[in-house]
Amino acid sequence: MLVYIWSLVLLCSSARASTWIQYPSDGYATMTHYTLPLNFIPACGCVTNSTLYPTAAMSQMAYGSSQAYGPACGSCFNLTLVDAFLVSPKYYPNVTRSVVVKITDLCPLSKAGWCDPTTSKPNDGGAYINFDLSWPSTSISSDFFPSNATEYGYTDFGVWNVSYQVVSCQSWLGWNHTQALGSVASEGLGYDSCCPDDPSVNPNSTCPSYSDEHNLS
Ligand SMILES: *[C@@H]1O[C@H](CO)[C@@H](O)[C@H](O)[C@H]1NC(C)=O
Ligand SMILES: *[C@@H]1O[C@H](CO)[C@@H](O)[C@H](O)[C@H]1NC(C)=O
Ligand SMILES: *[C@@H]1O[C@H](CO)[C@@H](O)[C@H](O)[C@H]1NC(C)=O
Ligand SMILES: *[C@@H]1O[C@H](CO)[C@@H](O)[C@H](O)[C@H]1NC(C)=O
Ligand SMILES: *[C@@H]1O[C@H](CO)[C@@H](O)[C@H](O)[C@H]1NC(C)=O
Ligand SMILES: *[C@@H]1O[C@H](CO)[C@@H](O)[C@H](O)[C@H]1NC(C)=O
Ligand SMILES: *[C@@H]1O[C@H](CO)[C@@H](O)[C@H](O)[C@H]1NC(C)=O
Repeated sequence: MLVYIWSLVLLCSSARASTWIQYPSDGYATMTHYTLPLNFIPACGCVTNSTLYPTAAMSQMAYGSSQAYGPACGSCFNLTLVDAFLVSPKYYPNVTRSVVVKITDLCPLSKAGWCDPTTSKPNDGGAYINFDLSWPSTSISSDFFPSNATEYGYTDFGVWNVSYQVVSCQSWLGWNHTQALGSVASEGLGYDSCCPDDPSVNPNSTCPSYSDEHNLS
């Protein structure tokens, strides 16, 4: 009986692990933005001073955990605005806007919304990853998102098509600020934290999946 239960547990956890999205190191994704308070400790458990530099939450199935830290934690991406596709006609900026973000937070999987992609279904922008940029931000200009209020009647398109590349965190604005790197001690957090400085340079530092480790769905 015990053996039977164990094999069920193993089956379930391997089924769960295989549902994470393995994304290529460059491609297209969608980008939204959200308000992350300064000095907040996001899901990965990165130090509060990481909020002083560009950070983003990643959609759950690409992030790799349903709670706390996941394999995406700490990794850095160069994101470049391509177009705002929810408006008609599509808006193409006449300036190139890029930002290197560090993933510090989880954008939970929901039944609908931009963080809903799964291995079998992209989001409404045809993307398998959504980056939820922490913006406004002390380190990203307030006019980062171009727009044309004359033509569209408002300035915040909300959702963008972006191109992304996995990059070394050495090009992240917080890299030279040691107080912005690392993770908080687990006491007081309720779970261990995992926020590697640069997993692209040391893959051994890649975080495990908290939800796989704890058999959570
Ligand atoms: C990010 O992408 C932009 C646009 O392609 C490019 O100009 C910039 O050099 C890239 N930055 C990094 C750090 O890769
Ligand atoms: C973008 O368009 C605006 C308005 O037409 C113009 O003022 C601005 O110079 C353009 N920027 C570039 C980089 O072409
Ligand atoms: C995003 O841009 C790429 C490259 O132009 C394009 O192939 C793709 O269809 C765009 N996606 C959306 C949702 O506009
Ligand atoms: C906004 O759109 C209008 C109408 O298409 C165009 O004439 C104007 O140059 C655009 N302005 C910017 C800042 O892109
Ligand atoms: C970090 O400091 C080095 C040495 O001064 C500099 O070359 C590099 O551009 C800085 N990196 C960032 C992301 O500011
Ligand atoms: C975070 O940065 C502030 C300055 O903005 C500094 O006063 C504070 O000591 C830093 N905290 C930590 C834990 O590094
Ligand atoms: C990663 O771990 C492997 C096996 O323990 C080791 O051989 C390798 O040197 C490590 N790589 C780095 C960059 O630390």
